[in-house]
Amino acid sequence: ITKIGIIGAMAEEIELLHQHVAVASEFTKAGITYYEGVLHDKQVIYCKSGVGKVNAAVCTQILLDAGADCVLFTGVAGALDPKLDIGDIVVSESCIQHDMDCTPLGFAKGVIPFHPRSEFAADKHLVELAYAASEKLFPGRSLKGKVLSGDQFIASREAVESLHQELQGACAEMEGASVAQVCDMNGIPYVVIRSMSDKADGSAHVNFPEFTVKASTHSHQIIDEMVKHI
Ligand code: ADE
Repeated sequence: ITKIGIIGAMAEEIELLHQHVAVASEFTKAGITYYEGVLHDKQVIYCKSGVGKVNAAVCTQILLDAGADCVLFTGVAGALDPKLDIGDIVVSESCIQHDMDCTPLGFAKGVIPFHPRSEFAADKHLVELAYAASEKLFPGRSLKGKVLSGDQFIASREAVESLHQELQGACAEMEGASVAQVCDMNGIPYVVIRSMSDKADGSAHVNFPEFTVKASTHSHQIIDEMVKHI
């Protein structure tokens, strides 16, 4: 690895990197600003993708074209696995797009027609580094699992149950599988690290901003710790 790419979807997630990275240069493309610099003696390039799969896909391709040879995604998610509490961490073993639905044509839910893969495995080494960092910082509060992405904020108990049962998702968010697919198409390793900001059951509006700050901080701390070991 010569240049670590780091993506967050929201301002909270990227502000924390601004505070820790010595930025040497920046450029803007497709409305997204990319910052290059050094974090723990490692060359990094990071940016705020914006929300959703299209933003994440465009952002990831530009990041890779700029020379990133691995991608770490930091952010928050809604918990699907009942074991997960607010602030707990999911490290992606794989990602899938839960809103890809060509079932009327006979494809299983989440399957991208005529594409080689629909479930994108994260890089095993990056998963182990992220999990080790997470367990060091927040013992007993992390799990490795499947991240489900879609252009929807999940906010009902029914949706949580069906996503957990039908697709075995650990958490739901809006970018991971998009980043994962672009990395897969380019042959670049990735991992998604998500801290739980809500339980995806419709109660998020009550305390989403507060929990987002807490969860973003957890996710950032894990990135910061794992970068030391990449
Ligand atoms: N990101 C944080 N919480 C989420 C949820 N409930 N659904 C989708 N993305 C999220």
